Amino acid sequence: MNAPHSPAPRRPIRELPDELISQIAAGEVVERPASVVRELVDNALDAGASQITVRLLAGGVRLIAVEDNGFGIPRDELPIALKRHATSKIGSLHELESVGTMGFRGEALAAINSIADCAILSRVADQSSAFLLDGRTGEIRPVARSTGTTVEVKELFFSTPARRKFLKTDATELAHCIDSVRRHALARPDVGFAIWHEGKLVEQWRACSGAQALDQRLADVLGEDFITESIVVDYGTSLSAPGVRVWGRAGIPDAARARADHQFCYVNGRYVRDKVLTHAARSAYEDVLHGHKQPVYALYVEIDPTRVDVNVHPTKIEVRFRDSREVHQAVRHAVENALAAPRAQTAAQGGVAAAAPLAGIAQAVAAPAWSQPAMNFGASETSARGHEVRDLGALWQPATTTTAATPPAWAERAPGSAALAATQPPGAEATPGRDTSAHAWPLGRALAQLQGIYILAENAQGLVVVDMHAAHERIVYERLKHQLDLQHITSQPLLIPATFAATPQEVATAEAHADTLHTLGLEVTSFSPKTLAVRAVPATLVQGDAVELARSVLGELAQHEGSTVIERARNELLATMACHGAVRANRRLTLEEMNALLRDMEQTERSDQCNHGRPTWRQVTVKDLDALFLRGR
Ligand SMILES: Nc1ncnc2c1ncn2[C@@H]1O[C@H](COP(=O)(O)OP(=O)(O)OP(=O)(O)O)[C@@H](O)[C@H]1O
Ligand SMILES: [Mg+2]
Repeated sequence: MNAPHSPAPRRPIRELPDELISQIAAGEVVERPASVVRELVDNALDAGASQITVRLLAGGVRLIAVEDNGFGIPRDELPIALKRHATSKIGSLHELESVGTMGFRGEALAAINSIADCAILSRVADQSSAFLLDGRTGEIRPVARSTGTTVEVKELFFSTPARRKFLKTDATELAHCIDSVRRHALARPDVGFAIWHEGKLVEQWRACSGAQALDQRLADVLGEDFITESIVVDYGTSLSAPGVRVWGRAGIPDAARARADHQFCYVNGRYVRDKVLTHAARSAYEDVLHGHKQPVYALYVEIDPTRVDVNVHPTKIEVRFRDSREVHQAVRHAVENALAAPRAQTAAQGGVAAAAPLAGIAQAVAAPAWSQPAMNFGASETSARGHEVRDLGALWQPATTTTAATPPAWAERAPGSAALAATQPPGAEATPGRDTSAHAWPLGRALAQLQGIYILAENAQGLVVVDMHAAHERIVYERLKHQLDLQHITSQPLLIPATFAATPQEVATAEAHADTLHTLGLEVTSFSPKTLAVRAVPATLVQGDAVELARSVLGELAQHEGSTVIERARNELLATMACHGAVRANRRLTLEEMNALLRDMEQTERSDQCNHGRPTWRQVTVKDLDALFLRGR
């Protein structure tokens, strides 16, 4: 999943020509120990290291030593490495415009050497010995060392006490140093990292390989929970976005945190803080995460280096995209696609939703529920009814009631769901009550309704509890969005128009927005100067209260003045409508209706969250239940 890393072959270190120096973003490179750590680890990665060890004393203030097994620096180039504007990584403006390495300015070692006691120990493969360069005296002497480089930085800011005073406690500086290595570690699962502080190993992340390398590294660095509570992102491998690839993991809405401390963005392997990327990621969560909670994610953007400028900030933490809209769209779609797939499906396949193999997610993304004929509400609204509802009844015979003969009102309104529910789960027999069928459906077989609010169902993992209003609201909402995208919210005339006493503003809004109302599948006309009549409502919402629906839509329209209401407030409008159309608490549902809802949830994008970002269902596993009853202890 990660792009293979092959370091560029080593070139001699040269001083950059003046005209190139003037092109490079200049400024403060070292603010604190963590900045030194960042620069030295960058250098080790550029040298093709596969193992990097960071040793610190006093939070890095007394000592930072970064040791690597990269290709080293030849003896005669050691003094040049400490010179300003001396680099082996670029040599021309063209190369500056397509940087593929972490470093390119030839500044870091010079800047560090000017504010601390530096020493470089290095050995290249074909040299008989390693050499140590004393940064203060310029002396070089042979030492023992295997191939690779160690840079030692002692007594940071020793000659500038004023700056040293700005440093925080050792513990804080240490935490920043660890953060800095962590960011590198998340970008390079193929490299092993170790951090020692005061002689104690504080972090160690072993090199990982294979298809699961990134997941393994994410779990090692951010914790197992990050993996179990996130979804694979993989976008742009096809022709859909030839310029930009995005991969990684996006946390499920439930995993969102109070702080934005688990949001990692990388561009071509470089950790960046970029408004375009964070905004794109945030907007992908718009429809499933409300309030001030911060989503968690690790996103890796790969883009042609000529399309992104890394030379904008002295610490290279910011980048500038040539076409930021393109990148915004790619990231937004990447995360949106990942979040859209209902997780029940993947949970059933392999335990935790998030641990689903990449192929499973990719498939779900490639073939969204909408593209399947059974869910094509617009066209097959009428044809899919009748017999399929009867099939549904046969499959899900209610155990106690006798209502099976009449098609459930629910399924009547949702032909897609009826058709889907009628499809047998793989390996299941049509015999009612057989456990195999319950196990084959990701959200299981409905057992009962609880307190008029929850649906209880049984699946392979145990008990599923569904908030029926919340779940149905999302299904109706997604259906309306889909229909509106197709410019076709199917409208159903009411046999008897529903009239209501309207305020002058409601009458005015109904007149002014007749077209918008029509697009939304509503027909509201004045009956008398003070009365409005609802003559048609969207077919999906026919069971709801027509007057309530009309009133709230008119209220929203009045709020969002102007002719582009639908474009600007589309989702709010549809969410309001969905809320009125969704089944209310305390409505008794038959088992068929409950099962139809479960099947709909399995097929509806974003159905794991209601329109307000709350979860719509929870799994209580048999293991959870056993623990509750102290079984097997
Ligand atoms: N760990 C290392 N292994 C091998 N070569 C190194 C190592 N660290 C530094 N060098 C060499 O020293 C040169 C100077 O390093 P320095 O970090 O100052 O500049 P840079 O990496 O080229 O650019 P930047 O200032 O953007 O980091 C590098 O170009 C590289 O050739
Ligand atoms: Mg460097």
